[in-house]
Amino acid sequence: MASRVIPVDPFDLVIFGGTGDLARRKILPGLFRRYSSGQMPEGARIIGAARSDLDRAGYQQLVNESIAEFGGAEKSDTAMLAKFLETLDYTPIDAKGEAGWDALSGMVRKDVVQAFYFSVAPSLFGDLAQRLHAHKIATDQSRIVVEKPFGRDLKSAKALNKSLRDHFDESQVYRIDHYLGKETVQNLMAVRFGNVLFEPLWNNHYVDHIQITVAETVGVGGRGAYYDRAGAMRDMVQNHLMQLLCLIAMEPPGQFGADEVRDEKLKVIRALQGVDPHHIVRGQYDAGPNGASYREDAENPRSFTESFIAMKVHINNWRWAGVPFYLRTGKRMKSRTSEIAVVFKDLGHSIFEGDEKRHRNILSIRLQPNEGMDLQVTIKEPGPGGMRLVDVPLDMTFAEALGDSDHEVTDAYERLIMDVIRGNQTLFMRGDEVEAAWAWTDPLINGWEGRNDVPKLYDAGSSGPEDALMLLHREGRKWRELKG
Ligand code: BG6
Repeated sequence: MASRVIPVDPFDLVIFGGTGDLARRKILPGLFRRYSSGQMPEGARIIGAARSDLDRAGYQQLVNESIAEFGGAEKSDTAMLAKFLETLDYTPIDAKGEAGWDALSGMVRKDVVQAFYFSVAPSLFGDLAQRLHAHKIATDQSRIVVEKPFGRDLKSAKALNKSLRDHFDESQVYRIDHYLGKETVQNLMAVRFGNVLFEPLWNNHYVDHIQITVAETVGVGGRGAYYDRAGAMRDMVQNHLMQLLCLIAMEPPGQFGADEVRDEKLKVIRALQGVDPHHIVRGQYDAGPNGASYREDAENPRSFTESFIAMKVHINNWRWAGVPFYLRTGKRMKSRTSEIAVVFKDLGHSIFEGDEKRHRNILSIRLQPNEGMDLQVTIKEPGPGGMRLVDVPLDMTFAEALGDSDHEVTDAYERLIMDVIRGNQTLFMRGDEVEAAWAWTDPLINGWEGRNDVPKLYDAGSSGPEDALMLLHREGRKWRELKG
């Protein structure tokens, strides 16, 4: 089964912040992989724009080094890389002044798709949008791409939205949440809405609870200054976990269109109940044999910022009434595991005498590592000795199931950038979604700040604080194990 690569239309992609960390690590190596796969057409151009005083050759050199360092070059030949570097151009630019804008205006073509990637601090979004407009570089067909953090609360998110909408229509704005570009996240929709099997069971009659886990082994070293002002709630829950929750809980849209999907996600966010403070556990990692404590990493000896959070959330609608959604995410945990587990209810009645164990069907969707899914089913243990039941996983790892190397999993950024060029907003957050997510998040954060809540310490390399385990234990449930 070979994967199909459909080239996109010719485009000019301007990357503001084109020499920055995200551009070097993700955007440019990702674009090179799309180029190697044949998806970037002849006539596509990438224009770096940043403060650094580089010329075209200097930028080509920087991109060449980034691809060598951050991947993409391993499977390709040097001739391919050389051709890719030919698609690059560069202009120094001042986001807050006038320098460089005329040069950029001379570079960007009007007769191809135009995309402007704001890979810069959000405080510059408004300046860039305004200058693109004032210098008549952007048209009403241009697309702009922005990154999280999209605000730090509802008020700032509204201000950011306004600064973009003053110059661009919502249909031109692509707000990236890279979790939506992950292969398995899209598979969530394929599994739910492409099979007859699951949807009839996807409700409070059959589902006991749902767990969403995004555990990481890395700490916050290197980006402590940003993280210490954000914490796990703003950094992960308000966006990535919220998006996963929406996709798992939303009603089937009438069709797989950008606004149809986003309308349904928005309804989920608006139906979220406020969370009882007793159902929130905040944690902070302590020093361990393999690393420093959070406070050392964040260089803030008195920090009360959470590097871990677990919570029980309810959705106020008919489908999910009474079904808890348990969310947890943290840094420096036992393993890098991201999964969504749909835990179905117990059988109402067992016909197998003597079988006292609780058997449950669990559908688990793994985002990483080993993207795939498995369904835990109960079968008879093989061999003599009567009807002894055992739970086994029906496992499907996508890389194995789909076989050949043509199906390598595309990085989230590659997919999302190609969607921008195609003009498909389905996997991007709409402004009202982001605002609704903050409207739910703000009172929770204000709540613990008002109570001067102190996060519970947890050992680096563990599954998080004890209280997070208790959150489920006291209800007769337990977290899925983080496989170390
Ligand atoms: C980012 C967060 O958005 O997502 C990081 O800012 C986090 O703190 C990262 O580490 C996780 O992404 P992934 O794709 O590695 O799971």
